[in-house]
Amino acid sequence: MRAPPRGPRREPPPHRGRLPRAGPARPRLPLRAPLRRGARPLRRGAPAGATARRPPGRLLGGGVVTALLALGGITKRYELERRVLPRLLGRRRPHLAVDGVSLAVERGDVLGLVGESGCGKSTLAKIMLRLEDPTEGRVVLDGTDLTALRGAALRPHRRRVQMVFQDAGASLNPRKTGATLVGEALGLAGLPRRDHTARAAELLRQVGLDAGLLARYPHELSGGQKQRLAIARALAMGPDLLVLDEPVSALDVSLQAQILMLLMALRDRLGLTMVFISHDLALVHHLCNRVAVMSAGRIVEAGSPAEVLHRPRHDYTRRLLAAVPRGHHRTRIAT
Ligand SMILES: Nc1ncnc2c1ncn2[C@@H]1O[C@H](COP(=O)(O)OP(=O)(O)OP(=O)(O)O)[C@@H](O)[C@H]1O
Ligand SMILES: [Mg+2]
Repeated sequence: MRAPPRGPRREPPPHRGRLPRAGPARPRLPLRAPLRRGARPLRRGAPAGATARRPPGRLLGGGVVTALLALGGITKRYELERRVLPRLLGRRRPHLAVDGVSLAVERGDVLGLVGESGCGKSTLAKIMLRLEDPTEGRVVLDGTDLTALRGAALRPHRRRVQMVFQDAGASLNPRKTGATLVGEALGLAGLPRRDHTARAAELLRQVGLDAGLLARYPHELSGGQKQRLAIARALAMGPDLLVLDEPVSALDVSLQAQILMLLMALRDRLGLTMVFISHDLALVHHLCNRVAVMSAGRIVEAGSPAEVLHRPRHDYTRRLLAAVPRGHHRTRIAT
């Protein structure tokens, strides 16, 4: 992979009382492919092994919310009964996809959200973006209660949280070139049209792509290139928070490593706040400074990767860890 060029480094935000990354080396986790950490400066934020274990979240009841994104008591219930008569009689079968989740994402955090299939991770991600309305609870972005906003009032806040999906191919309009796709996002972010070409090329370089690929349609790009273009388009919006829903699980192992390194570079150079949803605990361990474990719609445990993945408190986390295959072909990460 071509490393993204080094751009100007933004000053980190005020420190939140967490210790610099230091201290004892973290234990090792298996990974399918070797990953280089490189000599890059380490990101700001909590050291995986040095933070006190935080509670899964904070409730919003009347308190001051300092987190970039705070979820308070989020519940999402889907009504599954499709037949007309039982619906008319009020006999619905509600399905609780998210069950009272409270969670805070601080600026500069890279929060890993892990859990079995169907536990509600994507639903929670969509609620963070207000692509789905929660049945109950509040979504507070930088002090603004998004759940209270509708339509035009919500629009400017929507731009601030961007999502990258597992299947980037499906999320990119096949009838538009890369230039149009990125240009649209730049327009929504308020950049004058005359600056689009230069900024789009810069964004492509940032995600390790040749600017010449802007002329191509999505079907003319490889899986890894599509995923990078999707990340470039999300970055074009100038988001405060990037939510990545299984961004590498559709890619082969070497591409997974490349995209992971790109995300690490974005984390380090742009200080991007991210929520990284993944089944792969080793990837989460590598990228994130906080981990939240979800089971059956609830956050059952949260803390630093060292705490949660190496000293799990909850039975479910132990089972999740026990399910990680430890084949002899797996290499180990030195951290
Ligand atoms: N639109 C919907 N209508 C009804 N049920 C839904 C809907 N979307 C999701 N669900 C249900 O909600 C639960 C949580 O789904 P979700 O997609 O959030 O899981 P997930 O943790 O992202 O799983 P995966 O890891 O497989 O992507 C599942 O049981 C799913 O069937
Ligand atoms: Mg999902």
